[in-house]
Amino acid sequence: MPEVRLHVNGTVRTIEVEPRVSLLDALRERLGLTGTKKGCDQGACGACTVLVDGERICSCLALAVQYDGREITTIEGVADGDRPHPLQTAFIRHDGFQCGYCTPGQICSAIAMLAEHAAGMPSAVTEDPAEAPELTDEEIRERMSGNLCRCGAYNGVLDAIREVAAR
Ligand code: FES
Ligand code: FES
Repeated sequence: MPEVRLHVNGTVRTIEVEPRVSLLDALRERLGLTGTKKGCDQGACGACTVLVDGERICSCLALAVQYDGREITTIEGVADGDRPHPLQTAFIRHDGFQCGYCTPGQICSAIAMLAEHAAGMPSAVTEDPAEAPELTDEEIRERMSGNLCRCGAYNGVLDAIREVAAR
């Protein structure tokens, strides 16, 4: 079996995995990082979203062996020591969850989404892709549309992201 060095949340973990093992399963079942959730296991729900070199990916669609040496951040690694990430506290303040199953993916996705927006990346609803778009509610909804919430906490998610984006 191939040996893979996974750099996760600032720590290097070396594991042996079969080439067919997803990054999601490696994180949850081999490294014990169960904050990242498995919803659909086919790229449709966003529950498994993690950050790789700062970009969001669905870890259920990624093979662990592809991520040897890349910087992976999961929900367990977004806080700054004892200080929660601003999105974590904003989700609590705005009731951005009910059961919480989608929340780790929502927060990881929102972190990358705000960075994408700050870098001037357009979305499917950006009227003029040549202009840096304002982060309207429509833009936030579109940019977060890959993260589903079966509890329907979308308004709280929107409020939390809007608050952090406005800082
Ligand atoms: Fe990966 Fe649903 S579990 S997108
Ligand atoms: Fe339950 Fe989103 S809070 S699925």
